[in-house]
Amino acid sequence: METRKDLFEDLKNRLSELSHLGSAVALLHWDQEVYMPKKGAAFRAKTISNLVGIFHEKFISAEFEKLLKKIAKLEKDKKLNENERVIFSETWRQFSREKKLPAEFVKELAETCSNAQSVWAEARKKSDFNLFVPYLKKIVELKRREAQLIGFKDSPYDALLDEYEPQMTSQEISIIFFELREFLVGIIGKIKKSKIKINPKALYGEFSLEKQKKLNQFVSSKMGFNFDCGRMDISTHPFETSFNPEDVRITTRYRKEDLFYSLSSVIHETGHALYEQGLLSENFGSPLGEAISHGIHESQSRIWEKIVGQNLNFWKYFYPKLKKEFPKPFSDINLEEFYKNINYVKPTLIRTESDEVTYNLHIILRFEIEKDLIEGTIEVEDLPKIWNSKMKEYLGVTVPNDANGVLQDVHWSGGSFGYFPTYTLGNLYSAQIFDAAKKSILNLEKEFAAGKFEHFRQWLRNNIHIHGKTYSANGLIMEITGEELSSKYFVNYIANKYKQIYEL
Ligand code: CO
Repeated sequence: METRKDLFEDLKNRLSELSHLGSAVALLHWDQEVYMPKKGAAFRAKTISNLVGIFHEKFISAEFEKLLKKIAKLEKDKKLNENERVIFSETWRQFSREKKLPAEFVKELAETCSNAQSVWAEARKKSDFNLFVPYLKKIVELKRREAQLIGFKDSPYDALLDEYEPQMTSQEISIIFFELREFLVGIIGKIKKSKIKINPKALYGEFSLEKQKKLNQFVSSKMGFNFDCGRMDISTHPFETSFNPEDVRITTRYRKEDLFYSLSSVIHETGHALYEQGLLSENFGSPLGEAISHGIHESQSRIWEKIVGQNLNFWKYFYPKLKKEFPKPFSDINLEEFYKNINYVKPTLIRTESDEVTYNLHIILRFEIEKDLIEGTIEVEDLPKIWNSKMKEYLGVTVPNDANGVLQDVHWSGGSFGYFPTYTLGNLYSAQIFDAAKKSILNLEKEFAAGKFEHFRQWLRNNIHIHGKTYSANGLIMEITGEELSSKYFVNYIANKYKQIYEL
């Protein structure tokens, strides 16, 4: 008879093996974006799919299932300690999700999405939504089927959301997003009418790549990124990836005339990286050593990028250094003016280029549309019309063509339904978490002004990172702030900040 200790030893070994395989796949992806020659793509795709296949086989193998069922019995008899319960329940959640999807279904979805990606790129280039329609219809149909296979209580969308933000429901999101939407539409109207006019191009100049790179490394190190356990490289789209807490990588890209194009992405990705470097190495290969959810991960990037990185106190420390390195154009711009410039608000067509006030309306719009699509109350053919009318209603902008409208994001062509709302959840979590940090660290913002970020980073690490998946997202927010997730912290943050900037 195997003891509980034996069973967990076995489980941990298997999970560790899977995590090492996962790290190898992540490294191949990183290389693909950073170093791989163009012609390497076809073979690389096959190398990755072979490894993913091995991973999948090991994960849903009969032996693994047998082991999990033995532990499930212990769990039912309440014989597991706290950590064992976390390890088991998270592994079981992922295992049962994978088990519910037949191999043919997974293959069909992967092939459909793989074909759809290039069609989407073509459709976007030609700004012709009709090209993409048959592919998106097929993907939506498959995602509706996926929801049926996984199972759900109220909305099929919940089954898809669960992949990115476990335990969150579309009902909860709808309530929170509705309040947020009303607030944002209101404040954007006021900003438009403000007599304060800001010209963000005042910050443009000619910034050498070498100097930008040095600035990025300086800011990232100051935030606490450990370059002995990480790297910073260049790729077309910035991202963060991690193979274990001792090897965490971020990327950025550069524009000669605009150093914030690179720097803001570096601050964002460093926020993600600090989460991964903050996990405990001894928990590698276990849910205790993994981030909670997409939303919580995004909260760590946005808290640094927006709440800290666009805070006046942050720049009280960094701006004199920026002026010294780049006298043109900054010697002619005072700190207050500079601060207003980096916090310029303007409704635009493109999500990824939008500011922190308008950004969430881009997300709310996508959430409303994809939920209706999966629930079957709207159809793919209707998307451009619905998209354009929501853009007009929420942001007041007229969409000139599908390339700058419904076709702008890659997510749907990859089958990632349920992903978008985690961006806004991240912003809401970040404001609520920052409020708690301010209450617990005396003079937090004064510390920023003195270039001290250690307390804040340690606070995030101790309260969030080191716990891995011990808490659910909502459980963590309850634990840190004593309340459920609410939009009110983000609303107050935006209202106070922009009242001052735009003299509302
Ligand atoms: Co992010």
